Amino acid sequence: MSPLQEARLHYQPQLPNFLKVILSLRVAPQQPLPLSKEYVDLLQAQFPRSYSQPFLQFEVGNGVKNLKPLKVGVVLSGGQAPGGHNVIIGLFDALKKMDSSSQLFGFLDGPKGIVDNKNKPLTEAVLAPYRNQGGFDMIGSGRDKIETSQQFESAAKTVQSLDLDGLVVIGGDDSNTNAAMLAEYFLQQNLKCRVIGVPKTIDGDLQNEFVEISFGYDTACKVYAESIGNIARDALSAKKYYYFIKLMGRSASHITLEAALQTHPNITLIAEEVEANKKTLQQLVQEITEIIVQRASKGKQYGVVLIPEGIIEFIPEFKELIKELNHLLAPETDHPQKLDAQPSNDAKIQYIAAQLSPSSKACFRSIPSEIQAQLLLERDPHGNVQVSKIETERLFIDMVKPELKRLQQAGTYKGKFNAQPIFCGYEGRSGLPSNFDAQYCYALGTVAAILIQEGMTGYMSCVRNLTQPVEQWVPCGVPLVPLMHVEQRNGKATPVIRKALVDLQGRKFAEFSKQRSNWALNDEYCTPGPIQFCGPASLTESTVLT
Ligand code: FBP
Repeated sequence: MSPLQEARLHYQPQLPNFLKVILSLRVAPQQPLPLSKEYVDLLQAQFPRSYSQPFLQFEVGNGVKNLKPLKVGVVLSGGQAPGGHNVIIGLFDALKKMDSSSQLFGFLDGPKGIVDNKNKPLTEAVLAPYRNQGGFDMIGSGRDKIETSQQFESAAKTVQSLDLDGLVVIGGDDSNTNAAMLAEYFLQQNLKCRVIGVPKTIDGDLQNEFVEISFGYDTACKVYAESIGNIARDALSAKKYYYFIKLMGRSASHITLEAALQTHPNITLIAEEVEANKKTLQQLVQEITEIIVQRASKGKQYGVVLIPEGIIEFIPEFKELIKELNHLLAPETDHPQKLDAQPSNDAKIQYIAAQLSPSSKACFRSIPSEIQAQLLLERDPHGNVQVSKIETERLFIDMVKPELKRLQQAGTYKGKFNAQPIFCGYEGRSGLPSNFDAQYCYALGTVAAILIQEGMTGYMSCVRNLTQPVEQWVPCGVPLVPLMHVEQRNGKATPVIRKALVDLQGRKFAEFSKQRSNWALNDEYCTPGPIQFCGPASLTESTVLT
């Protein structure tokens, strides 16, 4: 371990005042949360036992309660997010505080660990080296879902064979939807096992009226902002490169917006705005080109451009193209086999182009062949294109270049354009969690233990009031079904927890749009520097701006 890793082992996350007295804490059920009006019938039909659950506040009772020892399983689901280990450790510490004979089992490598009953008993000795550390390597994670009736039956067998009182699913919107389905299934099977979800994803799109933010977003944004701030300083120093930086975030642009607010780049694309204004790829290329030309007229041949990873699916003509490609590449069709049988990448591209509608074919043909090939790569388990593998940073560079050349020939641009593509991605998902994430995660694990002790199921463990000091954070339990809407998945109306996109009417976006024209031409770069673990609270306890 590095000296800093070692030092972090001894960091003790502070608990909110409420959670300091878990032995006398009680849940206080409020009103049931209303279901999304449009989908009431479908949600009631799919979740007959769990659709009308109340919101749960916590209150301190008088005296210590009689708490029972619990057996609990925990699983990490989906992409890594800093703080995951601390959720497990918060859960473990709380279970042991409730009764020292409580037991915790970690399911290995994601939800398939539940189906196959691959687990590891988690003891203090196992957990000790993971306190306040990044990554998910203690038990691993995976993107598999529990969806077939056989998988549900196997999951039920697993929790019965381990005699589990509770199962904690740490994941994003899809994994928490899965947690709600498991909770419903276990209720229908009269199993005692309770299911609690925990909001995880660096993308920050698991947030709503009740969930202030998913864990991992704070650390990931800080890691990216550090890099971007440094890169901007490099741009300003060398004065010879345009850095085109793609930022992780499968769909929503929350990370990109936060990084922009922290570092003040010259150009930032926000996918939600692109979609709202129905911008074409060509229009975006024009806008970027225009700023580069204006900067060149001031003698500036350098700059920083931020591109959200998910942008491609928000550009209307690409949205349509990707929809057609997803359909063509679905395993139910014979196209994937035929595609595999093509002798070269070029032949693959020709084969697919021939299946597309005229407008999508035109869009497909307008992009460089490397990007065409990337659009044909394997889909994720939900049938989505894997946007982290599409080099949009190169796409924009490749499309801006000929535009600038054209303007050069016309005599309206006299600059030099040297561009560097950069991807800020995986390094943000497993870093040492910030104090915020370390404490938030520890508290989320603690709340999950309390919800199971109180016999609650189909809930998300939540902690609110997060912009205040930790002592004032407020734990609660949010029922999962009311967080759902209905989406078409593989052609079927499917309830899923709603993803939160950047709110274009919100305060954060307003602040950004007020500043961006200033940032475009004047170099107002800001260098946030690395995450701070020691020193004044203004540095160590600060949260992201958004
Ligand atoms: P989760 O939503 O599961 O937390 O994962 C988010 C994410 O990190 C995205 O930002 C990114 O597009 C994707 O995972 C990459 O996935 P993979 O690890 O499969 O390459």
